Amino acid sequence: MTLFPSSTQEIPPVGEVPRHIAIIMDGNGRWAKKRFMPRVAGHKRGVEAVREIIKACVERGVSYLTLFAFSSENWRRPQEEVSFLMQLFLRALEVEVAKLHENGIRFRVVGDLSRFDPQIVDLIQRGEALTAGNTSLTLTIAANYGGRWDILQAMEKMLAANPEKRGGFAEADLSAHLALNYGPEPDLFIRTGGEQRISNFLLWQLAYSEFYFTDTLWPEFDAAALDLAIASYQQRERRFGRTSEQLQSDGATPRSEVQARSSATSENA
Ligand code: IPE
Ligand code: IPE
Ligand code: MG
Repeated sequence: MTLFPSSTQEIPPVGEVPRHIAIIMDGNGRWAKKRFMPRVAGHKRGVEAVREIIKACVERGVSYLTLFAFSSENWRRPQEEVSFLMQLFLRALEVEVAKLHENGIRFRVVGDLSRFDPQIVDLIQRGEALTAGNTSLTLTIAANYGGRWDILQAMEKMLAANPEKRGGFAEADLSAHLALNYGPEPDLFIRTGGEQRISNFLLWQLAYSEFYFTDTLWPEFDAAALDLAIASYQQRERRFGRTSEQLQSDGATPRSEVQARSSATSENA
């Protein structure tokens, strides 16, 4: 298995287009409420936004897209809403996975699958197997996922595989067992819907990600909104602990210069 550099141990490569985008898709309920519709109508509409964002990520050359669809805490919602979300997930698995495959997308699901209906688990496994060799975009759906669950399950797997690690281990020993061990850490983290919190999403993996929060509600988050998030990312200077001066002497184009150039362009326009 390829090991991706840990952002706290090594300096990962940084490109203009984020290699990995992770999104908390929030605001479906409020989108529906604003239109005097039931909350679940917002979830249904949210699936359309998912389709648009997947397509936009493929077109922009993003390699990994990770979407938080259902958290380990979302079971606390009213039972009717939970069942609706499960039905929606089942339906999406039945209908969308074939389309993902046609578009060369690799499909993965991360989270504790033990609470899901066996029919859902079966469709997930088939979808993952069908798309395993695809190389255009790796789409990961986080379902019954929690960042703390992830760290604990990684710990259990690591100790089961190497009991001697009980005496001591390094970051890489643990991260090799985290749910997203097949991809690099997110470059860009987006949360729609106005809240500014992680809600137990990727606690370990977001250590050095760039954060972007928007008030746009998930059903209204489209390709143009994604471009605003990517443009914001492109203005950032990712230092990974170093100084701005070090980045300049290493020959990397400093973000401040990128910024100066883009504002000059907009002034000339
Ligand atoms: C996010 O939208 C979708 C899920 C958590 C499944 P919400 O349902 O949380 O929408 P708001 O936050 O209530 O508007
Ligand atoms: C986070 O959204 C989970 C998903 C988007 C799946 P929530 O709406 O459940 O988050 P909190 O509870 O408001 O933090
Ligand atoms: Mg919410």
